[in-house]
Amino acid sequence: MKRTLIQMALNARESAYAPYSHYQVGAALFTDDGEIVTGCNVENATYGATCCAERTAVFKAVSEGKKHFQSIAIVGGMEGREPEDYAYPCGICRQVLSEFAARDDLTVIVAKSCDDYKEYSLSELLPCSFGGDSIK
Ligand code: THU
Repeated sequence: MKRTLIQMALNARESAYAPYSHYQVGAALFTDDGEIVTGCNVENATYGATCCAERTAVFKAVSEGKKHFQSIAIVGGMEGREPEDYAYPCGICRQVLSEFAARDDLTVIVAKSCDDYKEYSLSELLPCSFGGDSIK
């Protein structure tokens, strides 16, 4: 499953629209009901309107009624090259992922390839997070 998720993230990376940074990111979410939803980064000439690959995947999934995610695989690297480093999710994406974590946590897989990856829990990457429970 992990290898499939990473491969799907690598495939999604091929659709990245990154004419400004030339840094291409792909993400693949594994939902609670066993489905995979992918995303890529979509940049914008205003820069600020750019959407990261992880959030593209989350917003695609939520818009299709899938709101609970078990894991996400993320790959990133400069255009025309294989990923050379692990691509960690930015702070905004960590926060967005925390909103939809199945069973209060989610596994984040950062990969260079299907054989070279690291795994974290989201709570490790975003400790003491602010969530819906804070405003009940
Ligand atoms: N990017 C992502 O897609 N995910 C992240 O978590 C960090 C950054 C994208 C945004 C932008 O298109 C490019 O990488 C360079 O910042």
